[in-house]
Amino acid sequence: MNIQQNISLKPYNTFGIDVTASRFVSVDSFYSLQEILTQEKDVFLLSGGSNMLLTKNINKLVVHINSKGISIDRENENDVHITVNAGEDWHDFVLWCISQNYGGLENLSLIPGHVGTSPIQNIGAYGVEIKDVITKVEGIDISTTKRVEFSNADCAFGYRNSIFKNELKGKVVITSVSFKLSKKQHQLNTSYGAIEQELAAKNIINPTIKEVSDAVIFIRQSKLPDPKKIGNSGSFFKNPVISSKQFKKLQDKYPNIPFYKIAAANKKDTPFSYKIPAGWLIETAGFKGKRFGDCGVHEKQALVLVNYNNASGADVYKLAKKIQETILATFEITLDIEVNVIE
Ligand code: EPU
Repeated sequence: MNIQQNISLKPYNTFGIDVTASRFVSVDSFYSLQEILTQEKDVFLLSGGSNMLLTKNINKLVVHINSKGISIDRENENDVHITVNAGEDWHDFVLWCISQNYGGLENLSLIPGHVGTSPIQNIGAYGVEIKDVITKVEGIDISTTKRVEFSNADCAFGYRNSIFKNELKGKVVITSVSFKLSKKQHQLNTSYGAIEQELAAKNIINPTIKEVSDAVIFIRQSKLPDPKKIGNSGSFFKNPVISSKQFKKLQDKYPNIPFYKIAAANKKDTPFSYKIPAGWLIETAGFKGKRFGDCGVHEKQALVLVNYNNASGADVYKLAKKIQETILATFEITLDIEVNVIE
């Protein structure tokens, strides 16, 4: 196993934060990962690095999960069951599925990161979440180094949430993810406003999965910064859910407030709760497009914090806290951070 010393993690996190790993190893198979975990008890696991904010040097062994491979487990004329190793790039996998005419992931095009970390935050976009197509997640229990398996239900998926962010945080490393995708009569999800508009603009009435994917790619490219050009981790915060009482109060003050009406978050607040786009709150509070030193709030989507080049993780975290404080003071809403802040 090739363990390197003092490696910059800047190329390994999409925020482009320059911290150093005292030791670093890249693993490309289940068994080499198992071997490392048997030898080393305190490791820092790194995959696509697309949902983390590193705020300090890592003084332990950083294990970069880089196992590749896609296999078809079984198929019939309607569906295909596929298992993908954790180190595969998410978007490359989505494009491969589209080239094979396998449907289900087209709305999740162009999301940065690796396949193995996609279940942790239940990645979602344009009305689809990865939980809709996952059949199984496999991993290694870090304390015993034994293989473990989770059904979809075991993963306890929620909005940008799963068991891997809660009870199993730091306890399991995901090694592969299995999906069930359609081979025909694809269930397209094109009702999201921006997709509808994009397809209509192109006069597409019965889109193929490729056309839906192209529309999603176009929308994302027009709103979200490309991490290869400007460091970022996508949405930095979750969209908050508030009670109907609080929502009505806000709507009186801000008649144009955007919202998604959803089933009540708790039984005390019947019958509905309201999810508010955090991007709107942050824009309304005046942060959109503002730069603070080398970090800032993206000019086209206020939910995304960006590193223009040399911001430290602490700089970005300081800005995030300032935004949280302002949103709380202005709207009485607590914004939860979505990315994994490594302190
Ligand atoms: N909005 C603003 N100002 C902004 C941004 C948004 O007013 O700067 C308002 C607009 O009214 C807009 C609404 O917010 O209509 C919703 O915006 P958008 O469609 O961009 O979606 P979002 O709720 O801000 C979520 C996800 C994104 C995902 C999009 C599309 C979260 C935390 N974010 O953003 O996910 O791509 O929906 O489905 O749920 C990610 O998680 O990294 C991510 C990019």
